[in-house]
Amino acid sequence: MSQLTDLAEVVERALRAPSVHNTQPWLWRIRPGAVELHADWTRHLVATDPDRRDLVLSCGAALHHLQVALADRGLAGHVERLPDPEDCGHLATITIRPGTGDAADAALFPGIDPRRTERRRMSHRPVPARHLSTLEEQASRAGAVLLPVTSPAMRHRLAAALTEAARTQAHTPGYGAELQLWTRRHAGGRDGIPASNVPPPPVGLVGSSLLRHFPPGQLRQPRHLPGHGPADDAAELLVIATPGDDELDRLRAGEASSAVLLVATRLGLATTPLSQALELNTTRQMLQQEVLHIPEHPQLILRIGWPATAAAELPLTPRRDLRSVLLQD
Ligand SMILES: Cc1cc2nc3c(=O)[nH]c(=O)nc-3n(C[C@H](O)[C@H](O)[C@H](O)COP(=O)(O)O)c2cc1C
Repeated sequence: MSQLTDLAEVVERALRAPSVHNTQPWLWRIRPGAVELHADWTRHLVATDPDRRDLVLSCGAALHHLQVALADRGLAGHVERLPDPEDCGHLATITIRPGTGDAADAALFPGIDPRRTERRRMSHRPVPARHLSTLEEQASRAGAVLLPVTSPAMRHRLAAALTEAARTQAHTPGYGAELQLWTRRHAGGRDGIPASNVPPPPVGLVGSSLLRHFPPGQLRQPRHLPGHGPADDAAELLVIATPGDDELDRLRAGEASSAVLLVATRLGLATTPLSQALELNTTRQMLQQEVLHIPEHPQLILRIGWPATAAAELPLTPRRDLRSVLLQD
């Protein structure tokens, strides 16, 4: 098989990366011995994501998925991030180098297919400390920090930031239109969030009230086990943060998020990226200064827990074909 075919198959695996509203805001160019990743600004959610943070994070997640898929094929790649100062949309070039792929990256490959965004109630079973340490190690390997929000006081303030973000965005011109646009795609559409991946209201269960409110979907909540009420969701809330807050930091935050999501999936954990509180300056600052008290910049919240015992398997969300996302020139 030719190396170009290999690279096309590797890029195809990268398309399974998570992205804000499943916009898949990326374009790829495959050249002999190299792959380029470009932002697709036409897929930018202008009202939801004014800083383009979610867009660059989504591309960073795809970049990390690409590295994992390359390593799984036994290919070594050198990543140059933001290689062209004249073109801010050219996010990375990955050049194939002699040698075998990184074993730690390759170990994450089995997480790509089963990973899903879980918006239902999670289990009441706590995530063990050793698993949290593994997740933190993955984030730091990828150049970010992962900070658990553990104490009741911190969680309370985080919930306040998320509630405030939801309230502000409800009045932001264009925000509701973007939600509708990306959750009500035409039949057979290959992007956006299908109704089958969103639970119907009420979403006001403890824990899930922190989630973004999408138009009501068809995903059924798992039934409660005897002796456990709706407040028993023991999902952890963890924040990905970076030393700075420029394009490179956001790209790396996306890579680190992908690493954490893939290792969590490998451990059997369910995951939900939550970006609402990071989409507004006010609530992002609340998170940094009043919740976490850190000099680093928060980039994304990850909700991670065991799937509820009776939860049915989540449907796979669609992705655009490889040919729709390839730059040909
Ligand atoms: C940067 C980023 C932000 C996201 N924000 C949210 C969010 O606020 N709420 C949510 O339910 N899902 C969020 N997601 C998850 C996406 O909606 C999800 O990845 C996409 O619909 C594809 O589905 P999948 O993850 O099941 O493959 C986010 C994903 C990324 C990468």
